[in-house]
Amino acid sequence: MHGAAIMLEHLDSQPPDALLALIKLHAADERPDKIDLGVGVYRTGQGDTPVFASIKAAEQRLVDIQDSKSYLGPEGDMGFVNALMPYIFGRDATMGGRISGMQTPGGTGAVRLAAALAQKAGVKRLHMGVPSWPNHAQIFGDIELEFVPFEHAKPDGSANLDAVLGAIRTSQPGDAVLLHGCCHNPTGVDYGADDWEAIGDAVAETGIFPIIDTAYHGLGNGLDEDVAGLRSLLAKVPEAFIAYSCDKNFGMYRDRVGAFYVLAKDADTLDTAFSNANALARASWSMPPDHGAAAVRIILRDAELTQMWQDELDQMRERMRQVRAKLAEAGQVGSVDLTPLGQQNGLFSVLPVTKEQVVQLREEHGIYMAGSGRINVAGLTMGNIEKFVSALGEVTG
Ligand code: LMR
Repeated sequence: MHGAAIMLEHLDSQPPDALLALIKLHAADERPDKIDLGVGVYRTGQGDTPVFASIKAAEQRLVDIQDSKSYLGPEGDMGFVNALMPYIFGRDATMGGRISGMQTPGGTGAVRLAAALAQKAGVKRLHMGVPSWPNHAQIFGDIELEFVPFEHAKPDGSANLDAVLGAIRTSQPGDAVLLHGCCHNPTGVDYGADDWEAIGDAVAETGIFPIIDTAYHGLGNGLDEDVAGLRSLLAKVPEAFIAYSCDKNFGMYRDRVGAFYVLAKDADTLDTAFSNANALARASWSMPPDHGAAAVRIILRDAELTQMWQDELDQMRERMRQVRAKLAEAGQVGSVDLTPLGQQNGLFSVLPVTKEQVVQLREEHGIYMAGSGRINVAGLTMGNIEKFVSALGEVTG
């Protein structure tokens, strides 16, 4: 006899995810002039996160034409997966039959699949620039890959190329490196074109396995510009994994729209990789949710909707550039130099503030940001940026 079950006593309590906890904290704050610079969602100049008009139009068509919700399979909607490829990989989107993909539940699902498949292929250690998106370390820790950090950015707010090259050059067989394709989360500090060339050369020379997480495509400098580095690396290496998210660039957040791509040395290796990826997906989520990916597919197969989507993306990028320019213009604020933010990309930048100052900004000024000092610049508008800058000056001065 086993007696009454006491299995759950073996669990240690886990803290709630700090980033996601900010959503609730901010919602509970009744101050009308509170500012949410926490979780990574785009906001308009009015502070809203609306559904894209292109998505609304595609969803309408989906309702009209979808005749079944029967299963597709672990790979999900391959029309969606393939329609994205020219945007990511360029004109020769399969690189001569060496790249293929499958749909995943968001970019997180793609990172999880990349980590699990890399481990299955023999990867034991992962080099990753820090700071990074906190969930990266959580995912890699969960599947027990050893994690080797290197410094992503220099204190002056530029990319630390020596650190990434050092990590790659001292790597051992069985090592992988995780790189952010663009709009680095949390620093906003991206590698330049020459940096990517040097990284690609070092990856090719050492044989370290590259995993590239691209979650903010189009939110930095443009659809082609944001993947130029990724493409230059892929042109030099025999194999790589790419995790891709449409949750930001199509505003699909809670609908969980992502894709996982593999570059392999030949078509046979690619097939074998996907037989494993399909089995891993089946064992994890069986198949991804359909709705968001189907809407993205409808957009990308229609020239008018594609234009509408790109215009919406242009507007987002333009607004974030304006906010960044305004922050950079403020220059030195208290102990913080905001100038480098003008050169950084995407939703995020990290301010050199202490945890205490983050709490002070929240409690005294209703300004919500991650404990790491990361801000979501899209949370700032022309109406609240002055309040933010003056509060920052007060707290750090
Ligand atoms: C973020 O970093 O805020 C976003 O990627 C949302 C998330 O899932 O953490």
